[in-house]
Amino acid sequence: MRLLVCGGAGFIGSNFVRVRLADPGDEITVLDKLTYAGRRENLEGLDVRLVVGGIEDPTAVADAIEGADAIVNFAAETHVDRSIAEPDAFVTTHALGTYTLLEAARERDLRYVQVSTDEVYGSIEEGSFTEASPLQPSSPYSATKAGADLLVASYRHTFGLEALICRGSNNYGPYQYPEKLIPLMILNAMHGDPLPVYGDGMQVRNWIYVEDFARGIGTVLERGEPGEVYNVGGPDEAPNLEVVQRIVEYTGADESLIEYVTDRPGHDRRYSLGSEKARALGWEPQVRFADGLERTVAWYRDNRPWWEPIRSGDYRAYYERQYGRALG
Ligand code: NAD
Ligand code: TYD
Repeated sequence: MRLLVCGGAGFIGSNFVRVRLADPGDEITVLDKLTYAGRRENLEGLDVRLVVGGIEDPTAVADAIEGADAIVNFAAETHVDRSIAEPDAFVTTHALGTYTLLEAARERDLRYVQVSTDEVYGSIEEGSFTEASPLQPSSPYSATKAGADLLVASYRHTFGLEALICRGSNNYGPYQYPEKLIPLMILNAMHGDPLPVYGDGMQVRNWIYVEDFARGIGTVLERGEPGEVYNVGGPDEAPNLEVVQRIVEYTGADESLIEYVTDRPGHDRRYSLGSEKARALGWEPQVRFADGLERTVAWYRDNRPWWEPIRSGDYRAYYERQYGRALG
């Protein structure tokens, strides 16, 4: 396929590109604004055309979309804590950006996959979300992602666009920016910095190894039914404290680094995603959490040149604002 991958220089987008190019057959253009989270290095060695620009910019979209058969949209602001501190970019990228891409897809009659999140369903105490669960987002991040999903659905309903939505659970793996729980804890543990656990640490997340999610999106792209939503969740759930304890063990750090800090406002207690519909298309996750986490720790240990410039750059100022203290 000739694919336009928006947000392809980020964590999941670049893993998706790598997974797709491992098999011959695709021609890929990446459209990415290269925000703090988007990095050219993530695409190093991959045969892609990179167009630098925002999905909310019709000129950049028109340039990037040339020759494409389908669009996969990963482009987003993705960190809940940043959406609480500064929601502006979340509204622009998720609302205006998604709208701009949908218009471009409609004009050219392209297949369109929106990459979304389990967070649009809100928090669930017991059981798992299905695709029919109501949307009850809690944060500016998840609310603007839910808005984008509704806009995509409206373009299917109103204009007959060949649009699909793929909702993933919490991803982890190589190339994840260290503001997110797992890489933040791995790098802090490696440096002997405190491990800041929000609240009581008993919030539960449903973890999926990034390559499993990338393959799930590929399955939805190739075999999904237009107009449908597909949940793509990981095989394991774990409370945050257990995740941090495993990272302490795999890095050989001292457990006394764990520090309970003020909870995130509006913090969702638990996410859990039922993925039977995606499994019926022939997809299933292959990596169990314990194994994937150990691989992820090894990747960060072996890829200093990737994260050192991040940890010594703007990230330090973000960290100080968010955690009220400097990194060691
Ligand atoms: P990320 O923050 O690592 O990457 C986002 C990418 O989008 C970056 O390359 C950034 O430069 C780019 N971008 C941001 N705004 C843009 C704009 N206006 N125009 C063009 N590019 C822009 O995020 P990620 O973790 O790779 O997430 C990718 C997608 O998957 C997002 O849509 C996110 O909501 C969804 N998702 C993420 C997770 C997760 O656990 N990380 C789980 C489920 C779904
Ligand atoms: P995060 O990686 O931000 O993903 P999301 O909020 O999208 O699920 O956080 C995962 C969980 O880890 C979430 O319950 C918040 C918690 N958390 C901490 O306890 N400490 C931290 O420093 C961070 C970044 C997250």
